[in-house]
Amino acid sequence: MITEKKSTISYRKWDRGADREFSEEVTVLRMDNGLITYACGITQEGYLLHCYYGESIGDDDISYLMRLAEHPFTPNGNNRDRLVFMDARYFEFPCHGTGDYREPCLMVLDEDGMSTCDLRFRSYRTMKGKPALRQKGVSCIPATYAAGDEAETLIVTLEDTHCDITVELTYTMFADLPAVTRSARVINRGRNDIRIQRLLSGCVDWDRSNFDMITLNGNWARERAVERCRLHHGKQSVESTRGISSHQHNPFAALVSHDASEEVGEAYGFNLVYSGNFLALTEVAAGGNARFVMGINPYDFSWLLRPEEDLTAPELVMVYSNRGIGAMSRAFHDLYRKHLIRGQWKDKMRPVLINNWEATYFNFNEEKIYQIAETASKLGIEMLVLDDGWFGKRNYDDCSLGDWVVNEEKLRGGLKPLVDRINALGMKFGLWFEPEMVSPDSDLYRAHPDWAIQIIGRDMTQAREQYVLDYSNEEVRDFVYGEIRAILDSANVEYIKWDMNRALTEVGSTSLPRKRQRELWHRYVLGVYDLMNRLTTDYPYLLLENCSSGGARFDPGILYFSPQIWTSDDTDAIERLAIQSGTSICYPASTMGAHVSDCPNHAIGRTTPFATRGDVALMGTFGYELDVTRIPEADREAIPGQVAKFKKFNSIIRNGDMYRLANIFEDNSYDAWMFVTKDRKEAFFTFVQVLNHPSYPARRILLRGLDADRFYRNEDTGEVRLGSTWMQGGVIVGAFGDFVSKSMHFTATN
Ligand code: GLA
Repeated sequence: MITEKKSTISYRKWDRGADREFSEEVTVLRMDNGLITYACGITQEGYLLHCYYGESIGDDDISYLMRLAEHPFTPNGNNRDRLVFMDARYFEFPCHGTGDYREPCLMVLDEDGMSTCDLRFRSYRTMKGKPALRQKGVSCIPATYAAGDEAETLIVTLEDTHCDITVELTYTMFADLPAVTRSARVINRGRNDIRIQRLLSGCVDWDRSNFDMITLNGNWARERAVERCRLHHGKQSVESTRGISSHQHNPFAALVSHDASEEVGEAYGFNLVYSGNFLALTEVAAGGNARFVMGINPYDFSWLLRPEEDLTAPELVMVYSNRGIGAMSRAFHDLYRKHLIRGQWKDKMRPVLINNWEATYFNFNEEKIYQIAETASKLGIEMLVLDDGWFGKRNYDDCSLGDWVVNEEKLRGGLKPLVDRINALGMKFGLWFEPEMVSPDSDLYRAHPDWAIQIIGRDMTQAREQYVLDYSNEEVRDFVYGEIRAILDSANVEYIKWDMNRALTEVGSTSLPRKRQRELWHRYVLGVYDLMNRLTTDYPYLLLENCSSGGARFDPGILYFSPQIWTSDDTDAIERLAIQSGTSICYPASTMGAHVSDCPNHAIGRTTPFATRGDVALMGTFGYELDVTRIPEADREAIPGQVAKFKKFNSIIRNGDMYRLANIFEDNSYDAWMFVTKDRKEAFFTFVQVLNHPSYPARRILLRGLDADRFYRNEDTGEVRLGSTWMQGGVIVGAFGDFVSKSMHFTATN
């Protein structure tokens, strides 16, 4: 519910040698769904201040939380203290140049080269549901969505009359989730060009800083490791400057109370629906108050805004939990499963796939692929995914990106006969593309060297012997899309793996005018979204899986188009415990690409039991990435059982509530997690022993998420106990060997 409340705040202050009374009329705009309250307030002078964000509070006058009374630096009666006011107040959308020295959300350069901005309230409106984010000339901005009865939206319009801009701040609160989304749109209302030097998506100010900041960091093959640091004075941030959301830092951050664990404490989670350069920054200012801002990274960013043009910031998703980090994660999972992921695969069990990458790399022909498919189909595997190497003359990773025509020397007879034969086995067929890339050794590059991102006159940096295509250029996108369409229309391709294997360098465009060159970082991302949108609109049945050298673009922007993302090129089951657990901090299991691969593992050389590899892959989308014709007989024989297990439990994993029962980052000797159905009638538990130390003879793992007063049967042992017993007493997991896993199924008996 969104309400407006006017009130008067009064206070006394010693001013110019006398004790004076000041009063001010304020209006509080408040959003509340019974779970959380978010409120901002408008001062008499039109400043939009932050009022409250946290657990729901009743229908009360909360205007005093704007702190005007405690610190009477109110400019309306007391202009001599305006700077103190600006530098200490809690702003909804801070600007710069008038006395707030903390991180701003907006920086504008006007035609005279001046850069101050002073936003004041103009109007607000509310609506049921959630409007799509829009910007002139942009086909699609990914964002969460909601029907009329699922959310309410508040749009506050601010203006700066000096540079003639308006800023629309959009807030949506979801009816049944502790989540608010925010975005901002700047419109040039004047007659002169202006330049946006920074446009972040949102800001939250607190009058305290007793938080830890959690971020997800890593590198290739070790993505999204959870790190937690205490806030300190000054700035703490994670960012990407690579053009993709990156392996190194995920566009996620949480501020949690010092006591926060999986189950208790406060957690404010933030996640940006964006796949390019981002910044997530917390600043603890002199007064001990914390400010968090997040959005497109201002690094090397600048955007020319001509009269009547607009620029929209990506959506910032904010989740609040007062029941620990686990509840924050579950709220993100629910939000993304219900209100972000789209398309025909949104609520469906995904086909069990087998991918040939780690099985053959570039060394295959149509017969080899068919053999893998044939053996796999007999074991219950449902889709063959042909990875890199099927096009151009690509027998190694040094050529042909951009030439999306079938290599008929490798796939004799072309794609269709192979796909038809695989379909005849009762299997679906999927194909790998890397649509944003071009190899220097390709027909595409020879014909259109200007289509690569570059700065004319400078050497172009290669990575994996490839360049990035200039997706800000519609002609480039149309060409690539034409090639993809030709392949999709030539054979029954039902899945695409959309890969992206390098970061951007020498960021310049041959098609953008000089004044718009710094827009390329963002225009590139918008171009990627445009093409993904066209693809998923024209081929609605396609299952799209994204990938970026493993998990370098695992973000909500991508999830809007693609219900699953390849989590990491590290397929080692033990490494995956940390990678998947870190990813689950804000992304649901249904989105995590996870495969059983061969041993010794190709990324790190470790050998783990086949059963453990299966149990760990079950936490994600589940599939295989090995040469099924050549693995040990015992492993092959285990596959039908694993597939059956996937079918039996996937609905609990895909739709249920996830509980991380062990913290693999703190105690890396074991891991355990469970999923519980929404009606709490069934649960699926998994334990993995990492190190079988003699001092750990057995473990007692406390279950979570069950109904305390219901009886549950452990279907594996037959034991029946109260939910409260399983949760307070735990389940005993016996001693195993290293890397051994154990899963258990619990069903309610009453
Ligand atoms: C990337 C992906 C892999 C595979 C290769 C193919 O590294 O992460 O899964 O598709 O590209 O070149």
